[in-house]
Amino acid sequence: MKIIKAKDYQDMSRKAANIISAQIIMKPDCVLGLATGSTPIETYDQLIDWYKKGDLDFSQVSSVNLDEYRGLSHTDPQSYYYFMHEHLFKHVNIREEATFVPDGTNPDAEAACAAHEEIIKKLGGIDLQLLGLGNNGHIGFNEPSEAFEKETHCVDLTESTIQANSRFFDSIDQVPTQAYTMGIKSIMMAKKILIVANGEGKADIVARAFWGPVTPDVPASILQMHPNVTVVCDEAALSKAPIK
Ligand code: GLP
Repeated sequence: MKIIKAKDYQDMSRKAANIISAQIIMKPDCVLGLATGSTPIETYDQLIDWYKKGDLDFSQVSSVNLDEYRGLSHTDPQSYYYFMHEHLFKHVNIREEATFVPDGTNPDAEAACAAHEEIIKKLGGIDLQLLGLGNNGHIGFNEPSEAFEKETHCVDLTESTIQANSRFFDSIDQVPTQAYTMGIKSIMMAKKILIVANGEGKADIVARAFWGPVTPDVPASILQMHPNVTVVCDEAALSKAPIK
């Protein structure tokens, strides 16, 4: 596990974008695993900027997203489909048909999840998976539980996640209670993983996830077992980690 300490959010975002950009340059037809949430927004902004300057080309890139709320339409501004288009896809030359977000509009959870898993397999697996970190240690929407869930599946969101994500909705009752998410196995199968976290609010969970025991109670802790993980955090998020 490689830990990279960034000065602040902007520095974290630039470092993360540099790693993604290197992946695209080294393998122009790579498969990127993408994440939503507030943390990667500036990383995407930076990639867009480099694309506009002619330094990056997404024309051969494919992407698969980690997760999606169950039941939100593509035009719902809270859906992750919408988020990805707003924050990245519509600003770069990635082909629409090469972008895949789990289909939250499909009420058949089993079919929607199996289809997403099939897409990852057809693409030949994920070259670089970008992850954010939930306040309770979740990755994608893999919530703390008694066992690590394997492939893409439907989850009941925990109270703490519904609470945390309610900041994006008008009221807490509008936050969906379920989501489709890639499982821990789907994430761990990625060749490389890049996880980003910033701010003091993440300091406790960063220390538990990367320096604590590996346990399904802190889903991100499983990343300690992956052979190629890069953690990019700002100083605040690393303030409780046992490092200088
Ligand atoms: C959501 C997403 C996660 C994300 C997490 C952290 O619940 N499903 O993929 O990593 O929130 O979000 P933020 O980056 O806003 O702290």
